[in-house]
Amino acid sequence: MENDLREILITEREIQNKIKEMGAQISEDYKSQNLLMMSVLKGAVVFLADLMRKISIHTEIDFMAVSSYGKNTKTSGVVKIVKDLDTALEGYDVLIVEDILDSGMTLNYLINILGERHPHSVRIATLLNKPSRRLKDIKLDYCGFVIPDEFVVGYGLDYCEKYRNLPYIGVLKKEIYQGQ
Ligand code: IMP
Ligand code: MG
Repeated sequence: MENDLREILITEREIQNKIKEMGAQISEDYKSQNLLMMSVLKGAVVFLADLMRKISIHTEIDFMAVSSYGKNTKTSGVVKIVKDLDTALEGYDVLIVEDILDSGMTLNYLINILGERHPHSVRIATLLNKPSRRLKDIKLDYCGFVIPDEFVVGYGLDYCEKYRNLPYIGVLKKEIYQGQ
């Protein structure tokens, strides 16, 4: 285990088993749809890369990069699009692939702006759901794991851009972020 972690919360095997299930369900649900899987850079890239390989129907992928406006963006959820999608969404069944749903502010904003582009449908798949800090009511269509209110890293999730490459999800030791 990486030394900066207090514990491993979800093992590599547990993640991969769950993704297999989610991929099978999504493939079934979208078999007569025009699936476009999209992620916001960077955290969800690892999950998207694994999930798309468990999809047995045609899918396209696309990415968006956003940056936060000012200090309060975590609570306001207002984001600036730094890199937009390449795809015009009209006629697509868009699946937003997220690493973790926390307050829900970012996703709430995203659903609104994507919805204005007239996709056929918009749904959400998240690997992790941390419901204890939710500020916006978000309907999750596909969810991997519900986790407690802990700061987790690994499998795409970072602290100061580190730990994204860990193949499992772990809880960071308090002294790592308190020492900063
Ligand atoms: P929210 O749902 O708008 O609060 O934002 C979710 C985003 O916050 C995620 O996409 C992550 O980038 C980040 N985040 C929330 N909780 C964690 C965590 O425990 N570890 C790492 N990043 C997190
Ligand atoms: Mg993120």
